[in-house]
Formats: sequence, C-alpha cells, structure tokens
Amino acid sequence: MALFKKDGKAGETGGQSLPRHIAIIMDGNGRWAKKRGLPRTAGHAAGAETFRTIATYCKDIGLDYLTVYAFSTENWKRPQEEVDAIMRLLERYLGEAIEKMERDGIRLKFFGDTTVLSPKLRELIHETDEITTHVRGFQANVCVNYGGRDELVRAAQRWAERVKAGETAPLTEERFSSLLYSAAIPDPELLIRPGGEQRLSNFLLWQSAYTELYFTDTLWPDFDGEEIDRAIAAYQRRERRFGGL
Ligand code: FPP
Repeated sequence: MALFKKDGKAGETGGQSLPRHIAIIMDGNGRWAKKRGLPRTAGHAAGAETFRTIATYCKDIGLDYLTVYAFSTENWKRPQEEVDAIMRLLERYLGEAIEKMERDGIRLKFFGDTTVLSPKLRELIHETDEITTHVRGFQANVCVNYGGRDELVRAAQRWAERVKAGETAPLTEERFSSLLYSAAIPDPELLIRPGGEQRLSNFLLWQSAYTELYFTDTLWPDFDGEEIDRAIAAYQRRERRFGGL
C-alpha cells in the first residue's frame, strides 16, 4: 500500500510533493538470473514482469509518467541470442498490453529509433501508438534503441533541416525540447537506478539536468512497490534549488 497521495506529501517526511514523472534504468536482470543459476534471458523475462507491476503501481499512486530504459543504442553489442530474447519479450509484452491498455488506463509510448526494429515489433508499436492517442491517464514511456546522445543529435539535425527550410526563429531550450522524443512531457523529477551501478549510461541526458538521482543495490527483477515508496520518500526529503539558493 502506497504511503503517498497525488496532492499530498509523504507522511512526516515533508519537502517535495509526489513527483509527476519517474525514470528508471532497469538494471540487474543478468545478475538476478545468474544468482539463481538461470540464463540471463530468464532475468530479462522476470524484468519485464517487474515492469508490468511497477507501471501499475506508479499509476495507482498517482504518477503521470514513468519512463524506463529497456534497450539502449549500445545494447546491440550484446550476444545476438540475448538481443533476440529481449526483442521477443518486447513483442510478447506489447501483444498482451494492446488488449489491456484501454481497460487499465495505461498509455504506452516508445522513445528511440524504432525504424531498425523487426517489422512485427514496428507494427505492434504502431498499433500501440494508435490506441495511446485516445487512452487518457497515466503514460509509460519505454525506451528502445534509445540513447541520450543519439536523441540530441537527431534533434539538432531536425533543427538544421528547419533552418534550411527557412526557419528564422532563434533556437531556444523550449524549441529544442520540442524536438526530443519526450516533447510535451515534463522532465522526470526522480531517476531511479537499481542494480548497484551509479551512472546514467546515456539515459535522458537532456531531461535529467535537474533530476534527483536515487541508486539502490536491489536488482530490477526484485524491485517492488515498497522500493518505489523508499525512492519517493528519499526524493521528498531532498532540497531542490535548480541552481538558485
Ligand atoms: C539491464 O540489465 C537490462 C536490460 C538491458 C534489458 C531490459 C529489458 C527488459 C526488462 C525486458 C523488456 C522490457 C519491457 C518493458 C517489456 P542487465 O542485463 O545489464 O543486468 P546485469 O547488469 O545484471 O547484467
């Protein structure tokens, strides 16, 4: 049971109210599987189930957005068998989610260059996008073939094309933001990285300029609502100054 209310503060902890947007680097699937003598792919399957649980939990406690890092532009370097297994999991997840999105009130969006994915996955993403346009409420953004630097370069290229086509307005942070995958979505107030590593790994480089970072040793497949509560409680104790005093 969550400790938080949408418009409330976390019990006695005070400080910040509930974040609108949490970002998560879903790390530790491989180690979770290894500890159990299972193939790494079993860790990813467990991780996909954890995503399902956590997305529902985040929706239930009143967040507006959850953004997760499922597959980076660098993850193609992994053995083909593992890459294929992750893609199959995404296909399976989407195939099931499409049926339930409207009922569950969860919108699914994809951030990243999806043009290189399999035709089947692209078709599922296309279908998901169509449904998402008329589902209201909580939105989960799944980053697939996503890289923060790649996103910035693409935005710069899009701006250059506009200038070439006659754009005369000056480039502002606002205009640049509108060219990112996350256009129109508020920046995450809190970024959680399970799995013990303490780095961003090319995730949401622009959007996390003032995001509060929370690291935990818990492996992603072991993550649950209580872990989210702990991360939010830590966030709510932080003082956010955005460069001011
Ligand atoms: C990082 O753990 C995890 C990934 C690169 C893949 C994440 C993919 C999923 C959870 C499955 C598909 C997602 C959805 C949304 C259905 P790691 O393999 O680097 O773990 P390790 O550091 O322990 O090796």
